[in-house]
Amino acid sequence: MRTPIVAGNWKLNGTRESAVKLATEVVAGATDAAVEVIVCPVYVHLAEVQQMLQEGQVKLGAQDAAAQESGAFTGEVSAPMLAEYGCGYVILGHSERRSLFGDSDEVVVEKFLAVQKAGLTPILCVGEQLDERESGVTEAVVGRQLGALLERAGADVLENAVVAYEPVWAIGTGKTATPQQAQDVHAFIRQKVGEHNADVAAGLRILYGGSVKPGNAAELFGMTDIDGGLIGGAALDSQDFLAICQAASGT
Ligand code: PGA
Repeated sequence: MRTPIVAGNWKLNGTRESAVKLATEVVAGATDAAVEVIVCPVYVHLAEVQQMLQEGQVKLGAQDAAAQESGAFTGEVSAPMLAEYGCGYVILGHSERRSLFGDSDEVVVEKFLAVQKAGLTPILCVGEQLDERESGVTEAVVGRQLGALLERAGADVLENAVVAYEPVWAIGTGKTATPQQAQDVHAFIRQKVGEHNADVAAGLRILYGGSVKPGNAAELFGMTDIDGGLIGGAALDSQDFLAICQAASGT
């Protein structure tokens, strides 16, 4: 039995005030122990959001972390620093990081290992671009992204990690993968991990991300290999986000 997770990726949004308000509303509404709920604000809002999370069961995550621990890396924030702020999770390899900021498969693996070393749980994002899906190479792309980690570190590191399948063409576009399209890729990911370690594969939580909304969440989360969601746009509205968390309960 894998406990479902719903993680809100707030991206580059909000003010100190709106982040605190959103966190407060999510904490008040997320009371179902059957779903793990995570919110991921921008770095500078972490401390205040952490304060808001003290009382409830919502966990804190970050949207990225440096591969390095410390040193001359202007503008970076390291995993041990995030741990100090109470982060339990870090999103890594999000498609926006990969496409806009040049995070390669190798860099994502370095970040993954740095995050685990600091005792945090990586949420490793994988997913194909539209042209890659259309040319039938979805599994090759996702397999390559995942393979970079498996080849470098083996599958055991996934015991303390979460994977998020996010087809790039579905992120922020209002186009959702059909539950079957998503399920097929999730099953592929589990199978690929299973080639290395069957127990880790069976326990691995694989989230779907890409235009998840209250109206499509239940159907997606009802699929065998979908263990929750990584939510962007809909995570900025507490009612929508809580409705999505509710949809993950008991799946
Ligand atoms: P979206 O974003 O829900 O707005 O499509 C998902 C994500 O980028 O994680």
